[in-house]
Amino acid sequence: MMRGEWATPALIVNGLAFAANVTAMSRALPGAKLRPHVKAFKSTALAKQLAAAGHQSFTCATLAEMAGMIRAGLGHDLLLANETVNVNALSAVATLAAEHNARVTIAVDSPATVEAAAAAGIAEVLVDVNVGLPRCGASPERAPQVADLARDSGMTVRGVMGYEGHLMMVEPAGDRRDKVKASMEILAVAAAAIGGDVISAGGTGTYNIHAELGIATEVQAGSYTLMDTDYGQLGHPFVPALEVESTIISVTAAPANGTGWLVADAGLKAFGMDHGNPSWNHGDVWFCSDEHITLAPHEPDRWSVGDRIRLRPAHVDPTVAKHDEMIVERPDQTHEIWPVDLRGWTIQ
Ligand SMILES: Cc1ncc(COP(=O)(O)O)c(C=O)c1O
Repeated sequence: MMRGEWATPALIVNGLAFAANVTAMSRALPGAKLRPHVKAFKSTALAKQLAAAGHQSFTCATLAEMAGMIRAGLGHDLLLANETVNVNALSAVATLAAEHNARVTIAVDSPATVEAAAAAGIAEVLVDVNVGLPRCGASPERAPQVADLARDSGMTVRGVMGYEGHLMMVEPAGDRRDKVKASMEILAVAAAAIGGDVISAGGTGTYNIHAELGIATEVQAGSYTLMDTDYGQLGHPFVPALEVESTIISVTAAPANGTGWLVADAGLKAFGMDHGNPSWNHGDVWFCSDEHITLAPHEPDRWSVGDRIRLRPAHVDPTVAKHDEMIVERPDQTHEIWPVDLRGWTIQ
């Protein structure tokens, strides 16, 4: 397949930029200090690159991601950093883990999630502690009871996790640091009460604060691998590595005193839009509809129907999850395909 021959919209990874991001993160958080979150890229081929860079433990958001990672031989140490009461799916993952000699740890934050994990034959859990994000996690006061319940149910409690997702984009950076420190102090108190040796937290927005604080034993970042325009605002040393290639399918020339526009074939079904519109280097994005993006080009005469353009997503995780594969471009003009094989919720 030559450049430009693939169907659009297509996910394109800049192989050099991806490698630079992996190197920058590995310098700050080498080896097991990083537990890359696979939900950002949903690809075992990409995860294998991270394992080769020294990060053998991974974070998952779904049991389907866990099952795919186990089947791909990436089951050295997998954490489901999410709650579930799906005993059938948990049992399927426990069985798969036993067959492949994989290690799985499940986050729990309530009696119901502890019961589900125990009923499914899960051996190890982490207690998810709420550190300020109104999402999952037991309150710091209740977390030790959840740990006791898990131990009484025969499971090993490896420690705690606490995701400070509400702090990823706090500006200025000094405020972000102070708030992350306060939330990690809450987690450290819970960790001391609960025991175990894992304190898992963090993401791409806060990885550098964790590297400095040293309270979390591991950081769950994933978006840094591919990056998006949202995280690009933070000034971290990660570069955009993911674009969506799209074909111009309609050109409307500017009337005498109006503005012309272009339409390309990548819309809401090609981009995760919760963090805003995609960006285009050569003009403004007006809006997206299901299968269209309408653009106002800086140089209207430059563009024709059939031209290919590239757009940067504002949020990498849901963007990747809409595609079947990533096309990785190498500097020598060769390409590699990384299937997005961890999509969906069904365990095959
Ligand atoms: C539980 C959990 N940990 C870590 C992350 C961090 O991921 P990112 O690299 O996108 O900041 C997320 C993202 O939403 C998450 O839900």
